[in-house]
Amino acid sequence: MGLIIKNGNIITSKNEYIADILVEDEKIVAIGKDLDIKGHEVVDANDKFVFPGGVDEHVHYNSFNSLGYETSHAALAGGTTTVGDFVVQPVGVGLKDSIINYKKDYLDEKATPDYVLHGIIMDPSEETVADLVNMPSVGVSSVKLFMAYKGMPYYVSDEWIFKALCTGKKAGVTIMVHAENADIIDVLTKKLIAEGKTEPKYFGDSRPVLSEAEATSRAIYMAEIANAPLFVVHVTNQKTAEIIRDAYNKGLSTYGETCTHYLMLNDENLAKPNFEGAKYVCNPPLRPQSDVNFMWEAINKGWLTSVGSDHCAIMGGFAEGKRKGINDFSKIPPGSPGVQDRLNMIWTYGVETGKITRQKFVEVCCTTPAKVCGIYPQKGEIAVGTDADIVVFDPNYRGTVKLEDSLSSSDYCTYDGFEIKGIAEKVYLRGKLVAQNGKFVGELGKGQQVMSKPYAYCYDKFKE
Ligand code: URP
Ligand code: ZN
Ligand code: ZN
Repeated sequence: MGLIIKNGNIITSKNEYIADILVEDEKIVAIGKDLDIKGHEVVDANDKFVFPGGVDEHVHYNSFNSLGYETSHAALAGGTTTVGDFVVQPVGVGLKDSIINYKKDYLDEKATPDYVLHGIIMDPSEETVADLVNMPSVGVSSVKLFMAYKGMPYYVSDEWIFKALCTGKKAGVTIMVHAENADIIDVLTKKLIAEGKTEPKYFGDSRPVLSEAEATSRAIYMAEIANAPLFVVHVTNQKTAEIIRDAYNKGLSTYGETCTHYLMLNDENLAKPNFEGAKYVCNPPLRPQSDVNFMWEAINKGWLTSVGSDHCAIMGGFAEGKRKGINDFSKIPPGSPGVQDRLNMIWTYGVETGKITRQKFVEVCCTTPAKVCGIYPQKGEIAVGTDADIVVFDPNYRGTVKLEDSLSSSDYCTYDGFEIKGIAEKVYLRGKLVAQNGKFVGELGKGQQVMSKPYAYCYDKFKE
């Protein structure tokens, strides 16, 4: 039996119209008026918005001490049907093999939303870089390198970033960078700790805006020399966003995302008493409200392309995980849960406040992330032939984010207490109902890998 979603106000990144959607065999097979097929389940979406399932291009389910895929149904409860997860490369394991092993060890029958994978270069060598061209054969066409995290296995030097840019280009693999100057952070961190400034409120001082801006500029120059595209993940501030915007306007293929928390929270969260600020420690840090305001402008004007959650629910949560840094902010594991709340936050505080349109909401939360990940139009779109990942959204719902509703298995919720307007009343993943009114109602472990195609969104200018 198929499904007909009737009379919904369909929102895409380009337009809005009232129509019925016919779903059969996991796909949208028709969109039109008065579709009426006997024997199909009919869902009345009158007075509801209908948009593509969210695509969260930036989540962590097995990196940075994060909780794993057994918690991934949280995404579906919040209307996100596809997540883009980062796969660590263990030392001594090839880049492509790291994906094959990860699927076997961590993913098979564990992921509940559909997922697309990004590689991470952690064991840089000529062999690793050469392996970049093999990534599309395992459905991966984006690989992240970390300019930050000196002294940790994530850090790689510019030599490898430049080589990755040159080789990635040969196979249409998008190079993503975590752009912060590792040495500056290292010096400032040691100085602050030596001065006894150990609390979370000093965390931002250890990673200033300019350390992000400097690394971003450096990465852009490297990409320009390599004649390759670049995607800068989790941009936090005006200065850095302007650098990306100006490089793009100059003709370079330079793109960037921001994240929910850089639109919703600011540096005052880090100063919360009783070590509560640790909940909000993430890299790069939360910035002053003026930067938060600019992030809204940046997504609205298209200077930043998309909004990821950078979901990273730390093992042990606040009580045990974050507490490791009680005497030293630099030992607080970075990251916080956010995959469940991303759509609610951007809708309530973006669309409902008039900061962005409904089209822009779909663009930055669903469509462009799918394009960046190389999985568009299969994901992130409502059109005939696409996967039937659909949100039926009730804009009249009023509620509050509560820890008790969180499915991320953490002991805190990053957006606890925030009011929400609207809710994902029904969420369909490939045509199956998986969540209703914020509650997961599907089957665990039924997520599938979405194979990413190379030469994705960040290569668009090279195709002109
Ligand atoms: O601090 C965060 N956001 N944790 C994840 C690590 C990263 O760099 O994305
Ligand atoms: Zn990062
Ligand atoms: Zn991240």
